[in-house]
Amino acid sequence: MLWVVVASLICIALAAVCVRHYIDIARSCPGPMSWPLVGAIPFMDKTGVGALLDEQLRKYGKIARVDLGRLRFFVINDFGTAKDLFNRDITSNRPVSWLHKYLKGFNGKICGIIHASGATWREQRRFALKNLRDFGFGRKSLDHVIHEEAQLLIKSLLEEHWTHGDILIGTTFNAPVVNVLWQVVASTRFDPNAQKTKDMMEKLTERFKAGLTWSSAFPFLNRYLPLSKFNQDLLDFKAMIRKEVIAHEQDHDPDLPPRDFMDVYISEISSQTHPESSNFHREQLVTICTDFFQAGSETSSTTLAWCVLYMALNPEVQSRCSSEIQDTIGATNPTLDDINRLVYTRATVMEVQRISVTAPGSLLHITSEDIHMEGFVIPKKSIMIANQKSFLMDECVWPNPEAFMPDRFIGANGKIVKPEQFVPFGIGPRICMGESLAKSEIFIFFVMLLQHLQISSSKTYGPPNPKNLTTGITTIPDPFHVHIEPRT
Ligand code: HEM
Repeated sequence: MLWVVVASLICIALAAVCVRHYIDIARSCPGPMSWPLVGAIPFMDKTGVGALLDEQLRKYGKIARVDLGRLRFFVINDFGTAKDLFNRDITSNRPVSWLHKYLKGFNGKICGIIHASGATWREQRRFALKNLRDFGFGRKSLDHVIHEEAQLLIKSLLEEHWTHGDILIGTTFNAPVVNVLWQVVASTRFDPNAQKTKDMMEKLTERFKAGLTWSSAFPFLNRYLPLSKFNQDLLDFKAMIRKEVIAHEQDHDPDLPPRDFMDVYISEISSQTHPESSNFHREQLVTICTDFFQAGSETSSTTLAWCVLYMALNPEVQSRCSSEIQDTIGATNPTLDDINRLVYTRATVMEVQRISVTAPGSLLHITSEDIHMEGFVIPKKSIMIANQKSFLMDECVWPNPEAFMPDRFIGANGKIVKPEQFVPFGIGPRICMGESLAKSEIFIFFVMLLQHLQISSSKTYGPPNPKNLTTGITTIPDPFHVHIEPRT
């Protein structure tokens, strides 16, 4: 008799889930077919973020709803709608799961900036931004660090060229790029040629390639499944950074001016009057630095890899940039002040950022309230994705969007024109924290590469194919060969 009762209760519960699901769908905007419990998974043929940013989703209009398992994703295809939604406080939180609380976070509490929400996020972001700026983030004072890293990189690229002829672009830019950030964060640098650094950068790239997977649709499973390789890598990054934080704590002298971001944060921890309830603690610092390490290296270095790829494919663009650089600053080291004088070079970097759509889905946001718009509801706790590809490849804004045309960013008056759809760093209060650093880094590295190197397609391997890529958190070109010659 008991089993009849249990079976009836299960049937009632399942029926309730189904009714709820279809009511929810009826109130919602269009999207791919969705079944209760599994959502659209049986009807989608791609995995990862690619599935959520599929061309097909644009046919549903400004917003498409995609259910993965029990998670509701709303993919925002229309720029105006994205601008409206992502500027609201109720869309500025991040989705969190067991992984974020226990693996990325500490003792069940979210730590860091990327996954934090509400007052803690605001407090930690504000503190970090202010102090990173004081240490030169996006300022001229950091230019010489960028110059040094770029010079070392160019030297090692030329050595590779002398030894092997063509050079292989893979995680080439990761260590030099992270080194600029790491001098501000921890006053140290990684040796780009050390095997340990190369392995770490490979792991980082693999994490960004993975992005969202089907297992993300059932986040509760992570609690019971063995730790994946990616998550083990995350723990390794955190362990490395924790070691650095502890070393900083040990030789921290409050009477001396802070050497870097870690020092400032450690002083802030010591100044807390109620340390037991404070948000400033060692694990918070470790996670913030892990956020910087991950967010700050892969994105900028991937952009630089795309710059090299498009220069090999577009020799006439490269030669215009090179002439502009030669005529304007010659062989002197570039600074951010030169960005307004090197208009075509700047436009070229912007065109690389546009066409490569480096962060195709931005980062996930979650709604903290129901949102009513255009006759439908985005329910509370829905996950929102900005479909950057539909903004950056919109042919109404960028005619012939698949073509590489830096001139589209230059107006009739010869100055830079930046359509508002150009948002590679995101929109609203969650906009990238490292935007100013990324802009100087990418610009200065790019100018220095073109001052010293002539980049062309490899005769042995052929031209790199921009369609050979992996879409994860970032859009990463598959490793490719190019030919380089020193510029005389
Ligand atoms: C070309 C380089 C870069 C690109 C394209 C990029 C892009 C983005 C995007 C799209 C977001 C998400 C915005 C949103 O949630 O709506 C983001 C967030 C973030 N980025 Fe970047 N980023 C770059 C470089 C950097 C650098 C150099 C740092 C160094 C610290 C950095 C740190 C962060 C952090 C901490 C967040 C999270 C902000 C928050 O949640 O409040 N990024 N970035």
